[in-house]
Amino acid sequence: MNRGGPPAPTPGVTRCTEITDFADRLIVWQHRHGRHDLPWQQTRDPYRIWLSEIMLQQTQVTTVIPYYARFLARFPDLAALAAAPLEAVLEHWAGLGYYARARNLHRCARTLVATHGGRFPESPQAIAELPGIGRSTAAAIAAFAFGARAAILDGNVKRVLARHFGIERWPGETQTERALWTLAESLLPARDTAAYTQGLMDLGATVCTRRRPRCDDCPLHAGCLARAQGRQETLPVSRPRKPLPLRRTVMLLLADGERVLLERRPPSGIWGGLLSLPESDSATPAAAQDLARRHGCELLETRPLPALRHTFTHFQLDIAVLHCRVRRDEVASDGPGCWLALDAAHEAGTPTPVRKILNEMRKDDTARNAGNHSTNLRCDR
Ligand code: ADE
Repeated sequence: MNRGGPPAPTPGVTRCTEITDFADRLIVWQHRHGRHDLPWQQTRDPYRIWLSEIMLQQTQVTTVIPYYARFLARFPDLAALAAAPLEAVLEHWAGLGYYARARNLHRCARTLVATHGGRFPESPQAIAELPGIGRSTAAAIAAFAFGARAAILDGNVKRVLARHFGIERWPGETQTERALWTLAESLLPARDTAAYTQGLMDLGATVCTRRRPRCDDCPLHAGCLARAQGRQETLPVSRPRKPLPLRRTVMLLLADGERVLLERRPPSGIWGGLLSLPESDSATPAAAQDLARRHGCELLETRPLPALRHTFTHFQLDIAVLHCRVRRDEVASDGPGCWLALDAAHEAGTPTPVRKILNEMRKDDTARNAGNHSTNLRCDR
């Protein structure tokens, strides 16, 4: 096994004999064939670069672009973000997932304003001390905003290195990851780190892809061990898989014919701080009755709606949905939670599965208004 030390010579493979060869080829390729027009590449403003790097964690470029534009329109700089309430930030994040990123983003903006004079520090080490910024993200921000010489090591880069250097251990394992960091640092060029860093990202995203990599277009193919051995599909080695644990919940959709009830979730934990549907352990009329009573409503009818499964990193969540038609007592209507019209609820920054449920109801309303009563998710009036 090669754990990522200096690459071992392999018969029949033209290796990068110089470390600089790897970086030089990548930099030349990035200038000629890499991406140059992504919205966050037109700036050296650390705020904009930081925002893009956080949004791009575990999220595709095409998904991020519209969120990035909307977020910047509402929070154009660090001061605007720090001054905004967390709820507004979460609203602009709704649908991107991994909401801890948004909470940390907000916390980080406030920390920078409170303790750094509203400016980003320039060293990758100092950036990595800030809330929600790991070592790789700190290096990317420092390289793009300040030209710092620091190694990145995200999932795409791990794949490129694992293939190129034939690393035969799962890259998430602590020891292997440590070796990969050492390797990544040893490959850094003396200059033009921004182009090199972008080149690594571009190569991982567009050429050395997880499936069907385009090795003929790769500037590093001559030295690639996986390609020489035809092992592109099996490297990097997958995580030894345990099945994800399954959790269950019931979402209660209280609807009075005009509005639906949403509640703000606790600030930490899954979907922390987002508006969501009330949850219960059971999908029984008694649970619905109890919730309705607490919100000053009379329960008229309950009806199960199609269930959903949502996958998180560490578990899967099976969501049963119970539609509860209620009559609201106007006098007692100021209880906890908020009653929103379906359109407003859909726009209110709710977790993805809740948006799906509300969206189905909206479609159903539209169909009903057009005289079609056939879909399952009816909001009875
Ligand atoms: N993924 C992470 N950072 C990125 C960047 N700056 N450009 C494109 N994709 C990325």
